[in-house]
Formats: sequence, structure tokens, C-alpha cells
Amino acid sequence: MKILVTGGAGYIGSVTAELLLDEGYEVTIFDNLERGHRDALDPRARFLQGDLRDPAPIREAMLDVRPDAVMHFAAYALVGESMDRPEAYFRNNVTGGINLADAMLAAGVKKIIFSSTCATYGQPERVPITEDEPQKPHNPYGESKLMYEKVLNWYRDLHGIDCVFLRYFNACGATAKFGEDHEPETHLIPIVLKTALGQREKLSIFGDDYDTPDGTCIRDYIHIVDLARAHILALQEGRAGAFNLGTGDGFSVKAVLDIAREVTGREIRAELAPRRPGDPPRLVADAGRAKAVLGWTPRHSDLHAIMRSAWEWQQAHPEGYSR
Ligand code: UFG
Repeated sequence: MKILVTGGAGYIGSVTAELLLDEGYEVTIFDNLERGHRDALDPRARFLQGDLRDPAPIREAMLDVRPDAVMHFAAYALVGESMDRPEAYFRNNVTGGINLADAMLAAGVKKIIFSSTCATYGQPERVPITEDEPQKPHNPYGESKLMYEKVLNWYRDLHGIDCVFLRYFNACGATAKFGEDHEPETHLIPIVLKTALGQREKLSIFGDDYDTPDGTCIRDYIHIVDLARAHILALQEGRAGAFNLGTGDGFSVKAVLDIAREVTGREIRAELAPRRPGDPPRLVADAGRAKAVLGWTPRHSDLHAIMRSAWEWQQAHPEGYSR
């Protein structure tokens, strides 16, 4: 099977491409390398450099490759940045996505697996969160992902494109080859580990007065290898619709810090800081549908195992990928 992976030089895309290649799929990566990294490109994949905001390169790529399915990771993904530059998020994540879907139509490609997010739910009314939770995003990032889900639903109804939306919770961890390298880094686990490495002086804990047992925010941390596996399962004939991808277990910021101290054997300085605006107190997935329909079970997402894999990668790549 031939798969076209957009954003395959990024964090989750690179690991999914790696898994696909390990399993014998033919992979073409389409990426503009704006935020992805050349060193995160699996050398076994064919690489086409292009930007989705321009309709021509993706159309050409699609007509050339004629993949059996598209896995679409390429997007901007920083909540804070989206509050400063909403237009960039709508242009890249929505307009770019429409160019991708139109290229699929031109080439007769009938299946897309789309990287969506729990940010489409905003502040959920019920936790654990099921796919039926109302989608009311609180930032342009989440909104852009929801808008593209809606666009694809119409392409499904009117053009017969099969769509799978995978709504990730907190992606983390690494493989031996590929890991997390964002600029700027805003995510908890890499920041904690950079502090352990001495690259940052301390971790700021954003608020300890939330309505949670230790007062810090709770998240559902899911290993990227488990996320990648869900994409491969979603390729099966007849799989369609939205799926939450998380473990169903929540860990507080303080719990993450404790596990990082245990795994690294380092002190890791931390101090209390004000709340970060927009952080929901608790985001935990009900991933029952992914289990029932995709046959998906997270196997790498024990938080100690996640931390070990991320720590190994950070130590091997203290400066991240070369720039
Ligand atoms: N946190 C800190 N200090 C830091 C960084 C993070 O205390 O230096 C806290 C945050 O306040 C939050 C938790 O650690 O409570 C996790 O924060 P991350 O930034 O790692 O992840 P988020 O839960 O904010 O974001 C994730 C994804 C987004 C997605 C969002 C949905 O990374 O892409 O979930 O809410 F949009």
C-alpha cells in the first residue's frame, strides 16, 4: 500500500512514517520543512518538499504518487501562538487542508486519516471525554482543526472521501530515531527533561490551585508510537469517523515531575508560577471507541516508559535535530 504522509518531518508524522516503513508500506513524505526537520525524515521514504498553502505542489505530488491513503499531519500546533496569529492557523491548517483534499479529488484518492486534537473540545463538560462531547474550541488552533474536520465531512458526503479523525490527547515519548524538538518548546515533558539536562534552570508549574487532588492540571499522556499504531489500524477497510486517542489515565503536572525525577535521577528544580491562560484543569480521554472499532490498545504509554524513551532521546540529541 502506498501512503502519502504530510508533515512526515514533524514529531508525530516522523514516527508514523517510521512505523509504516517498518511494516512494508511505501511512504512518500510531503513537508515544507518550515517546522519539521530534515533529520527527522526517514531515509527509506521518498521525500517531496512543498507547502500545502500552494495548491500546485500537492496536486502534482498526489497525481504522481496516487497513494491508497493520505495521513495528514502537516499543521501549526501551538495553542499560544494561535492566539497571537489566528490568521496563520486558519490559512495553514484549513486552507492548506482544502488544497490537500482537492488534490485528493484530482487524483481519485479516497481515504484520509487526519491528525485532530482534544483541543477541539475546549473545556469539556464531562471527563473522561467521549467523541460525543460538544466540540467548542477555546483557541484558533482547536478551531482550525475542527473546521477542517467539518470540511472533510462534506467531502465525505458529497465526494465519497473516507475520513478518519484521530483526536490526540497529550502526545509524548520518542523512538530510538525520532523525538520531540519544537522551537519554541512549550510542552511539559520536554521542558522537564531539558531542565534535568541543565539546559533550563527550572520548571515553572503553571498553577497549583486547580480543582484537582494536588491542585495542578491533569492530562492524558500518550506515547507517539501508540498514536502511530492507531493510524495504521485506521487504514483498515471501512474504518471511519472520529476517535479519541489517550490512555484514559490522567497525571498531574506534579506527578509528571516526580516521575521525571525518578527516571532521570536528577533533582529538576521547579517553582510555582501563575496559571497559564486557557488551561483546562483536567483532560482525560475515553478511548473506548478506538478500542472497540479500531482494535487499538495503547502498549507504550506507561508514563515511566514514556519518560524513559523521551529521556534517552533528549540525552542523545541535547540540541535537538541539527538546524
Ligand atoms: N505546564 C507547566 N509548565 C510548563 C509547561 C506546561 O506547568 O512549562 C503544564 C500546563 O499548564 C498543562 C500541562 O503542563 O497543565 C501540559 O501542558 P502541555 O503544554 O505539555 O500540553 P497541553 O495539555 O497544554 O496541550 C496539549 C497539546 C496541544 C493541544 C492541547 C489540548 O500539546 O496541542 O493539549 O488542550 F491543543
